[in-house]
Amino acid sequence: MEVLKLENLCFSYGSKQVLNGVNYSFENGKIYAIVGKSGAGKTTLLSVISGLVEPTEGTIYCNGEDMKSQDKYEYRSKNIGVIFQDFNLLTKLTAKENVELSMEISKSNDKQKIDKGEIERKAYGILDQVGLDRDEADRRVLKLSGGQQQRVAIARALSYGPDIILADEPTGNLDEETQEEIMDIMKKLAANGKCVIIVTHSSYVAGCADERIELKTMKKSTKKQ
Ligand SMILES: Nc1ncnc2c1ncn2[C@@H]1O[C@H](COP(=O)(O)OP(=O)(O)O)[C@@H](O)[C@H]1O
Ligand SMILES: [Mg+2]
Repeated sequence: MEVLKLENLCFSYGSKQVLNGVNYSFENGKIYAIVGKSGAGKTTLLSVISGLVEPTEGTIYCNGEDMKSQDKYEYRSKNIGVIFQDFNLLTKLTAKENVELSMEISKSNDKQKIDKGEIERKAYGILDQVGLDRDEADRRVLKLSGGQQQRVAIARALSYGPDIILADEPTGNLDEETQEEIMDIMKKLAANGKCVIIVTHSSYVAGCADERIELKTMKKSTKKQ
């Protein structure tokens, strides 16, 4: 089933055009690798898809609905989970606290009261799913290895049950063995019906994907002044 559709997506930083008419359709249950040279616009594309910035032109449909008519905050805190190369975790908190905080933020606009006990149980459960035991879950993030920190970042992205997972070079700072472990988690997520979109320079990661999308660097001054 199609979860995300990009139609003629364009993006410019001022007069510098980075994306020029990207068309693509993403289904759940699949892994997509976005590849391309440095500066081709991969991170920009993820920022547009995640609702962080507005496309200059074109439309994004999420589950058939035009993103323009959706509440961006709702979209970002419910539909989409983002994982970064450098993890972007709150390093003073424990792994579990990072996941809990993300769940609380996602629920903060809901009418229902937040049940702390339930959130804690869920946080431990999700961390367990990505291979972190109770002792690791209770450790401050800085006391975890790079691979373990990336697992926490994945757990955080999964914490509110999004359909789509976006990852920007998630294995860029990891050794080969850890990269394979992280990709095993990504494969499991796709097998469980998530749509996993990964920007990567790694041929191993691209090889794990069901589809590979190459972004081409735009030539200079294609935009009319
Ligand atoms: N905030 C910004 N302002 C202006 N130009 C930017 C900004 N962010 C990125 N760029 C430029 O846009 C292009 C695409 O960047 P990016 O999406 O980060 O590429 P990639 O992730 O493929 O390396 C690059 O030429 C980069 O210099
Ligand atoms: Mg990038």
